[in-house]
Amino acid sequence: MKVAVVGTGKMGREVEAVLRERGHEPVMVGRADAFPAGCAVGIDFTRPDAVVENVKKALAARARYVVGTTGWSDRADEVRRLVEAAGGGLVHAANFSVGVNLFYRIVREAARTLAAFPDYDPYVLERHHRQKKDAPSGTAKTLAEILEQAGGRRRRAVTSLSAPLKNDEFLVSAVRAGGIVGEHTVGFDSGGDEILLEHRARSRRGFALGAVLAAEWIASRTGVFGFDAVLADLGERV
Ligand SMILES: NC(=O)c1ccc[n+]([C@@H]2O[C@H](COP(=O)([O-])OP(=O)(O)OC[C@H]3O[C@@H](n4cnc5c(N)ncnc54)[C@H](OP(=O)(O)O)[C@@H]3O)[C@@H](O)[C@H]2O)c1
Repeated sequence: MKVAVVGTGKMGREVEAVLRERGHEPVMVGRADAFPAGCAVGIDFTRPDAVVENVKKALAARARYVVGTTGWSDRADEVRRLVEAAGGGLVHAANFSVGVNLFYRIVREAARTLAAFPDYDPYVLERHHRQKKDAPSGTAKTLAEILEQAGGRRRRAVTSLSAPLKNDEFLVSAVRAGGIVGEHTVGFDSGGDEILLEHRARSRRGFALGAVLAAEWIASRTGVFGFDAVLADLGERV
C-alpha cells in the first residue's frame, strides 16, 4: 500500500522504517509538499497547528488519515465534522503504543479500586524530551480523564497551582529534559505510603508500529475512530 508520511521528523522517519518492514511504500511529505496522489492513507506526525489543514488535504485526495500529532484536541469536533461530511476515515490517538493502551486499562482498574479510599491522593507525572511542544502530553490528559471518571474524592485535574490543591483536585505535571522518549507515572499517595504505576517507552518504534497498524485498519473503513477500536479488532481489547 502506498502511504503518505506527513511530517519527516523523529516520528515520521520511524514510521517510514516500519512501513518498509511491513511491505508498504512510504511517500515522505514535507511542510511545503502537496498531498501525494495515489496514496490510500496518510500518517500525520507534524505539529498541532498543522493538523486541520493536513486533514483537509488528505480528504481532498480521497485518502484515509491517521493522526498521531498531539495538542489539537480543541479542534477535534471540527475534524470529525470534516471527515464525516466527506465520507472519509480517520484514526487519531495521543499514543499509538499498544503498551500504553494496556496501561490505560490497568490505571482505570486501579483508579476504581482506590476511589473507595479517599486518603490516597492521585496524581499524574509525565516526562518527555526537551523539544516536545505541548504539555501536559496527550497521554497524560487521557490518564487524567481516567482518574476523573473513576469517581474518587479528587476528581478534577489541574495543571498549575497558585495555592494548595482543593479537596476535589489532583495535579497533572510535566518534566521536559534531554532526550526522554516518554514516561508516564500515575501515583496514589496516602501520606503513609504510595502506590505507583508507570509506563516507560524505550524507543519510538512502538508508536510508529501502532500508527501503521491503524493505517492498515482504516484503509478500508469510514468514520472517526480512536486506537482502541483498532486494537479491539486486532484482539487487544482495551
Ligand atoms: N501519538 C503518538 O503515539 C505519538 C508519539 C510520539 C510523538 N507524538 C506527537 O507527534 C508529533 C510529532 O512528533 P516528532 O517527535 O516527530 O516531532 P518532530 O521531530 O519535531 O517532527 C515534526 C515534523 O513535522 C514537520 N511539519 C510541521 N508542519 C508540517 C506540515 N504542515 N506538513 C508537513 N510536515 C510538517 C516539521 O517540520 P519543521 O521542522 O519544518 O517544522 C518536522 O519535520 C508531536 O505532536 C508529538 O507530540 C505522538
